[in-house]
Amino acid sequence: MASRTFTRVLRPFVSRQFVAPVQKRTIITAFSAARATAAVTPRFAGVSVQQKRGVKTIDFAGVKEEVYERADWPREKLLDYFKNDTLALIGYGSQGHGQGLNLRDNGLNVIIGVRKNGASWNEAIKDGWVPGKNLFEMDEAISKGTIIMNLLSDAAQSETWPAIKPQLTQGKTLYFSHGFSPVFKDLTKVEVPTDIDVILVAPKGSGRTVRTLFKDGRGINSSIAVWQDVTGKAKEKAIALGVAVGSGYMYETTFQKEVYSDLYGERGCLMGGIHGMFLAQYEVLRERGHSPSEAFNETVEEATQSLYPLIGGNGMDWMYAACSTTARRGAIDWTNKFRHNLKPVFNQLYDSVIDGSETKRSLEYNSDPEYRKKFEAELEEIRNMEIWRAGKAVRSLRPENN
Ligand SMILES: NC(=O)c1ccc[n+]([C@@H]2O[C@H](COP(=O)([O-])OP(=O)(O)OC[C@H]3O[C@@H](n4cnc5c(N)ncnc54)[C@H](OP(=O)(O)O)[C@@H]3O)[C@@H](O)[C@H]2O)c1
Repeated sequence: MASRTFTRVLRPFVSRQFVAPVQKRTIITAFSAARATAAVTPRFAGVSVQQKRGVKTIDFAGVKEEVYERADWPREKLLDYFKNDTLALIGYGSQGHGQGLNLRDNGLNVIIGVRKNGASWNEAIKDGWVPGKNLFEMDEAISKGTIIMNLLSDAAQSETWPAIKPQLTQGKTLYFSHGFSPVFKDLTKVEVPTDIDVILVAPKGSGRTVRTLFKDGRGINSSIAVWQDVTGKAKEKAIALGVAVGSGYMYETTFQKEVYSDLYGERGCLMGGIHGMFLAQYEVLRERGHSPSEAFNETVEEATQSLYPLIGGNGMDWMYAACSTTARRGAIDWTNKFRHNLKPVFNQLYDSVIDGSETKRSLEYNSDPEYRKKFEAELEEIRNMEIWRAGKAVRSLRPENN
């Protein structure tokens, strides 16, 4: 029954030639796949890459940018570079876990600093960190460290700053994975000492992905930036640390651009905006008499299971070339309607990021002692939305879950 429903729902894209791995359905005809491949080749051929050791200059659509890669930092070089350093990693949440374990597996001298007997303390013990050896309370870890990697949650970075700042003495390096605290210092009160290097490595993914990609022998893409260069070595240190925590390629940016783009993106296409689009499309389908399964499949399932991975792998031009002529015509026609209607919302969002409103809201919300309870109530509301309840049922019918 379920697969019959699927086939009917997905008919505009279906052909018999290719079977998508997850749902056993297809969107590409042999002819259009071949044409799509042909269409995509010149695009890749047009990317010019010049390489000098571990630095590549890549032409991104006419703008040349330098990209750093780990090839220039083999393990022996990393070990030698950090031979006199103790990396004190403060906080053991998502990023602390991923970056900390990767640093340890790379053989560097890394210690963890967290609240004693908190969730992170216990988590760290489970991961093999040993109290008194390489697991300490925050103050003790900071006093032992030469490179202080502040991986507390952004709200906690602000809360704990009055205690941390006096310990950041000359000669130490301060490391962040988000530009949030120093860029919005008027709100966070994180005013860094003027006599230390302050650098950033921001992995473009969750800490869990930082870890799994490292274990797979691959590396996550990261942004790197320098806030303050006292020694003249800050950028080099950021690149070396980027490699040490498990990055494959590193893109240079500034703290400000990193935090602006990150806050904007997660509120927009990465999560908030896309959730809003899903809800709007689903609600209209339901109000116009479509069943929950049909509305969900046509809104979320096909997007996440089939089309988005293909767009990610090949680009939008490829996707248009690979879909049916009917789908292609309508999708291209409607693009600009969505674009022009949504652009003012995106501008409003960007303004709200740069004027600090988003930071203020995040600090207030996340510092509330009732934060976890309130957040759980919000999650419960989302979990109980019809669209996500329908999604749970659809997911249970995926071949891999049967
Ligand atoms: N998560 C991501 O996908 C991601 C991606 C790129 C960059 N980043 C950045 O990486 C940094 C760390 O983020 P995260 O997501 O890994 O953080 P997280 O998972 O929220 O980790 C929170 C850590 O902060 C500690 N903490 C919270 N409140 C505290 C307080 N009042 N005093 C002392 N410790 C406190 C927690 O310890 P307890 O267990 O003791 O509460 C935990 O170890 C942030 O700057 C974030 O923006 C995150």
